[in-house]
Formats: sequence, C-alpha cells, structure tokens
Amino acid sequence: MSAILNLFRVKMGVVIARVCLLLMLAVYSSYGGCNFPEGWTGGWFQSGTPGLIYINSTNMQGKGECAETDANDKFMVYDRNEDCYRCLVIHEKHKYVLQYKETYCGQRDSLSTMCESITGDAALYSMFRKDPRPIPEPCPFHPAPFTFTYSRGSGDCANPPSRAESCTDDSRLLLRYMACPDVPGTESNIEELICLATWKEGSTRYLVGLISQVQRRNSISTDEDMYRCFVYKGQHADKSVTYNIAQSGDATCNGLTSPVDGSRTMKLTNVDDEHNRCHFPSWVVEHHKWFSLDHTHQYHFTTKNATLKIMNEDGSFDEKRLVCHSILEHKDNKLVKLVAHLTKGCESGHVCVRLARRGGGVLELQLGAALHDAPHHACADQLYTPHVTLITTSLYPVRCPMLGRYTVIDSLADRRRRRQQLTIDESSGEEVAEKPVECVMGQYDSASIGCGASQDTIEFQSACTSTVYTCYGSWREGAVGLVVAGPARPTSRPHALCFIYSTYVRNESGVPVSFLALSAVGGSCARGVLPGVAGDKAYNLTINGTCEQSSKYNSLAARLCPALALLGAAALLAR
Ligand SMILES: *[C@@H]1O[C@H](CO)[C@@H](O)[C@H](O)[C@H]1NC(C)=O
Ligand SMILES: *[C@@H]1O[C@H](CO)[C@@H](O)[C@H](O)[C@H]1NC(C)=O
Ligand SMILES: *[C@@H]1O[C@H](CO)[C@@H](O)[C@H](O)[C@H]1NC(C)=O
Ligand SMILES: *[C@@H]1O[C@H](CO)[C@@H](O)[C@H](O)[C@H]1NC(C)=O
Ligand SMILES: *[C@@H]1O[C@H](CO)[C@@H](O)[C@H](O)[C@H]1NC(C)=O
Repeated sequence: MSAILNLFRVKMGVVIARVCLLLMLAVYSSYGGCNFPEGWTGGWFQSGTPGLIYINSTNMQGKGECAETDANDKFMVYDRNEDCYRCLVIHEKHKYVLQYKETYCGQRDSLSTMCESITGDAALYSMFRKDPRPIPEPCPFHPAPFTFTYSRGSGDCANPPSRAESCTDDSRLLLRYMACPDVPGTESNIEELICLATWKEGSTRYLVGLISQVQRRNSISTDEDMYRCFVYKGQHADKSVTYNIAQSGDATCNGLTSPVDGSRTMKLTNVDDEHNRCHFPSWVVEHHKWFSLDHTHQYHFTTKNATLKIMNEDGSFDEKRLVCHSILEHKDNKLVKLVAHLTKGCESGHVCVRLARRGGGVLELQLGAALHDAPHHACADQLYTPHVTLITTSLYPVRCPMLGRYTVIDSLADRRRRRQQLTIDESSGEEVAEKPVECVMGQYDSASIGCGASQDTIEFQSACTSTVYTCYGSWREGAVGLVVAGPARPTSRPHALCFIYSTYVRNESGVPVSFLALSAVGGSCARGVLPGVAGDKAYNLTINGTCEQSSKYNSLAARLCPALALLGAAALLAR
C-alpha cells in the first residue's frame, strides 16, 4: 500500500515538476523570452522601409518581441499587433550590418520547425546601422591614388581614365569619373565614398559605404541614394595593385556575388608614384614635430620623411597631408623649394612648398596659393600663401641682432623726462621735485638687446616690470630684420613671437638721430607689417648706448655728442 502511495507521490512529483516547467516557459515567453544582442540596440536603415527600424534588447520594431532564440542566429518573435509568431534568421556581418531572412507570421511552433520553412531563395534583407552614427573605417583600397576604368553595363569606360584619390581621412575615397566619348551613358562626375564596414564571406570580400555627390552637395540625398554595397577583390603583383569592384545598384547587397558583376563595375590600378617621391631635407626632418609660434597647429613629418601632416593642436580638423614629390632647388642647407602632393579633406593636387631654416629650431614654410593637377605647374605661378613660422620644442638660443641699450620713445618715462627737461629749461636750471614713478603693466620705457653674457636676450623694462625674451633665430629681408624669440622662462607649452624691425635716421632739429622701429607679432612672422607702426605691439626706440657703455656715461655722451652715438649705431648695424 505504502509502495503504491510512494509511486503515486513520485508520479505526482514528476507531473508537478512538468507543469511547473511548462508554466515557467509560458511565463518566460509571455514576458519576451529572449534578448537581442546588446550591440544591435539602435536605429537601422533598411532599403524600402520608411524611417529607421529600432532594436532594443527585447524588441525589433515592425517585427516583434524576442520570444525564443537558439542563442545563435535564429530568433522567434511575437508580433503583438497581429498576435502571431515568425522566425527571423539574423546574421551579424559587421557591427554595422545585419542581414536576415524571415518567415510569414503565423501559429507558434518550435523554433527549428518554424525556421526550417525558410528556403534558400527567400529574400535576404540588409540593415545598416544609422543610429548611433557609425564610425567609418579605413577603406580597403591601398595605396591610393588609383586610375580606374568603369562600366555601367554598356561597355568599359577606359579612355580617358578615371581617378580615385585618397583623402586625409583614410576612410574616404574620392572617385573622379570621366566621360568616355565612345561609351554611351558615361558622364564625368565626382563621388565621395565613406567606408563603413568590411567583411569576408568565404573568399568574397564585402564593403558597405556611403556615396555622396561632391558637385551636388546641396541637393538632398536620401539613405536610399547613399548606402551602397560592394564586392571587391585585390590583386597584388610586384609593385602594382589592382582592385576589381562591383557596386550594388541600390541600398542593398542583393545579387552581389562577384567583383566583376554588378550594376556598376570598376577596375582600379594604383598609380605607381613611389619612384617619384622625394624626402624632405634632413634639416627639416631632424625634428619630427614642429609647431606654429602660438602652438595651435602641429606639423608632423612622418612616413620615411616623405609626408608632412598639418593638424590643429586640438584635433584633426582642417588636416592637410603633403607628400614630397620632387625637389626643385636646395640652397646651402637653408632653403628648399619643392613640389608636394597635397591632400586636404578630399581635395588634392600638387603644390609648391618653400622651406627656410631660420635657426636651430626655427623654420619658415610657404605653400603655393593653388593646387595643380600637373606637378610641373605647381611652382610656375610664383604665388604663395603667407609664411608660416614654425618652432620645435627644443630651441637653441642664438645671438640677437641690433645689440645695445634703447629708450622707448613716447613711453611714460620718456614723456616725463621731456616734461622735466622743459621745466628745467624754463626754470633755468632750478631743481624740481621728482614726480612719483608712473607704471603701467605692459608699457615699457627701455629695452636692452643682447646685453647679457650670451647676447641672446631681449629685455623690455619699465619702472615696475621687465620681460625677457630669448632669441632663437634671426634673419634679414632687405631693410627689414626678423627675430623669432620666446619668453626666457618657458611655459609648459613653449611658444614664441616674431619681432620685426627696421632702422631709420631722422633729423631732429638739425641733428641726425638713429631710430629703431620694432613690432612684435604673434602667430607667425607676417610679412608686410610696418615696424613701429603695425603688429600686436609697436615701439619706436632710440639708441641709448652699446651694451658695454654704462648708461650714465652714455646718456652724457648722447647729450654731448649725438653724432658719436649715431656712429656707434651705424657700426652695430654693419656688424
Ligand atoms: C523596447 O522597445 C519597445 C517598443 O518600442 C518598448 O515597449 C520596450 O519598453 C523597450 N524595452 C526596453 C528594455 O527598452
Ligand atoms: C628621416 O630623417 C632623419 C633626419 O635626417 C633620419 O635620421 C632618419 O633616418 C630618416 N628616416 C628615414 C626613414 O629615412
Ligand atoms: C639733416 O640736417 C643737416 C643739417 O641741417 C643736413 O646737413 C642734412 O643733410 C640733413 N640730413 C637729412 C637726411 O635730411
Ligand atoms: C613710430 O614712428 C612712426 C613714424 O615715425 C609713427 O607713425 C608710429 O606711430 C610710431 N609708433 C609708436 C608706437 O609710437
Ligand atoms: C639711458 O638709460 C639710462 C638707464 O636706463 C637712463 O637713466 C637714461 O635716462 C637713458 N637715456 C636716455 C637719453 O633715455
């Protein structure tokens, strides 16, 4: 009896356990029994579907709630609106590309049974990540530039050849299509390709990218116009690289299987310009990193000393890339004129480059004003953009020019002195009480140039303060002298400024007096700044003796014999 009871109990236990399991399953599935992978959360574009398809952990918009999964590629979803179930087989080709096939919505069955009804020729849908915005990846075609032929089904357009050029950002490629007179339906056009995703299936390589029309930037392009799928195959032989590329005709990957068969096919061949490359001179690349005087731009020489990258200190906006193409002139290891291939964004062409060594850590760079397709045109027009003055982080002090002690004309101290002079003259020699010293920050009364032991400093003085600069490079251009100097006590971000000066002699009540006109300019040694007049700061100075002369002796001498002081100044100038 007890045995039967025991058996009954066991059976009941099994039944209860089964019921519980079923209940749990039911509860589980009615609450959305599964999750979509976390990486799928976001908005997806699918050709033919208006708006975006949003996916979160439990729901796929327009399809249903995740009800069951084999934790691989099969998902059963429950469509609450229609109260039906369907199987989706979803393949993640790339974190930005999902491809799926699906069944009709119907009665629930087991996951495998439902999914088995999907046949091999069922429609394959592609979804491309749109939100959050995908981060482009480097395009798989190297090394740009390429020439290419293309076909839209009515024959190869090979003559003239089209060109594919790299942009500073290697996830972009500029496609310059040419029109072939002998091939109907070809037209010249410029397209920009942004590469979003690449993956491989068997031996077939896929790329999904965004195509935009460069010359019709303002026209509105839709996702349907922009998303394109590509199949490509690269062949590397010796020094030449070719790519066969097939492009989809719409915003899907449908029907793309071979790199030589598509709505549009292209054959890219790299332009072997390696042998044309030159190296920037060693006095330029001895420092890899150069900075503008205010440190807002970085100039970085890379890739075997053949490439110069120009970028903003805070990011890569406005980035330019220059590849040395050919050196035209190289003088005294100080001046070089060369042709470089410049890429800015997706614009590119040949440009003239002039570089001048102005000191151990000081360079000046000048770029041609325009880009040219032909390298030999680059330096022909002699038109340049303004000079850019560059410094390295390791700067070498040099001797400053125009050594001597100077008095700032029209400074507060100068005006006071003149007033006192007048008063003394009027009161015929009677002493007047000293006025308290006037002092305004940033206004200087005097300057001494190169008066330290190493003759490499410029010191501006006022009654309350002094500022010392160290000279790092100096040169002359006709009547104008230029000095690159930085604060003697360097800050964490070493910066410098440019002093631009000239000298002139003026008859002051019949007596010739020698003047130094001086301007300080930040940023770069801007040409055309009138010394003593323009610039960020401008001063007119008179010489108040050589560094060696005691100021007292000199001020006396200057009063007694101004011509002598002038001679001294002339001697200094001649040095
Ligand atoms: C997922 O999306 C659906 C429909 O938009 C919404 O009802 C649900 O609360 C979302 N779930 C989560 C976990 O965000
Ligand atoms: C680049 O130039 C520097 C300085 O002249 C030199 O030391 C270095 O070897 C060069 N690098 C290459 C790859 O030519
Ligand atoms: C300056 O003045 C002196 C005397 O008046 C005259 O001889 C000389 O030619 C003048 N120089 C200039 C540059 O004007
Ligand atoms: C310096 O002198 C020139 C002409 O002699 C004058 O135009 C300029 O204003 C002066 N500069 C200063 C800062 O006083
Ligand atoms: C020359 O410099 C000394 C010291 O700075 C000063 O006392 C003197 O007044 C200056 N002379 C003139 C003419 O400015």
